[in-house]
Amino acid sequence: MEEKNSLIKRAVELIINAKYLTALTGAGISAESGIPTFRGKNGLWKRFRAEELATPEAFLKNPKLVWEWYKWRMEIIHKAKPNDAHLCLAKLEEFGLLKMLITQNVDGLHIKAGSSNVIELHGNIWRARCTHCGFHIAFNNPPNNVPVTCPECGKLMRPDVVWFGEPIPRDALDRAFECAFKSDVMLVIGTSLLVQPAASLPFIVLRNNGKVIEINTSNTILTRKATVFINQKATEAMKMICEEINKIMSQ
Ligand code: OAD
Repeated sequence: MEEKNSLIKRAVELIINAKYLTALTGAGISAESGIPTFRGKNGLWKRFRAEELATPEAFLKNPKLVWEWYKWRMEIIHKAKPNDAHLCLAKLEEFGLLKMLITQNVDGLHIKAGSSNVIELHGNIWRARCTHCGFHIAFNNPPNNVPVTCPECGKLMRPDVVWFGEPIPRDALDRAFECAFKSDVMLVIGTSLLVQPAASLPFIVLRNNGKVIEINTSNTILTRKATVFINQKATEAMKMICEEINKIMSQ
């Protein structure tokens, strides 16, 4: 307990004194909202084959199957609410401490929690774009009929997410790297750091003599290098951090 408290205290000090604090999040931050992660014991990639569901080739071969899988995920996400970790990050932004939040998640929960400065590196499951004319639509609910067709030209639409083998949209990628280069402190929460280029962002911060606070229930390739590693659930750790910061900010 003593050790846990001192790690939280150290993280709070780094956050409060940061000049340009950023955060990088992954599926682990939404796990406690009931959204399955990709890897680990009950991870999606244990039950489903990524190459059949999350690649451009898979979509070309069977768009209905791919859309059905996305619809199923939308149904899970639709029932989910932002948890304390999402809410604490929104609070850090409100305090003016967190400058930018980079997420690999497509669930939209950071924005739902109230964060505004968000870079969604892998897109957003609540949007689709036309494969023919490029028209975009946004969903409030999972679609009734799949595959989704374009209201403008009637051709096939696709989820507006990044699949394996596809590049990250230029603007999002440039902004994420720019943020990493500016960061003197980065919070890295609930990501296995097994997917590039997101995985390289905290290492850029470390290389520039910045500090990295990692919060994860398991070790990752970053853990040994992280300035502070908090081996706890995202909600627990972020609640403790936010309580301390709340006290300091209201002094
Ligand atoms: P992963 O599923 O690979 O990793 C989730 C991480 O969260 C693991 O390191 C877990 O230990 C950790 N974790 C789980 N529950 C947690 C909790 N309650 N609190 C804190 N940590 C927890 O998810 P990502 O790293 O986000 O890409 O995966 C990266 C990308 O791979 C995804 O965006 C997706 C996937 O394939 C695409 O679909 C392109």
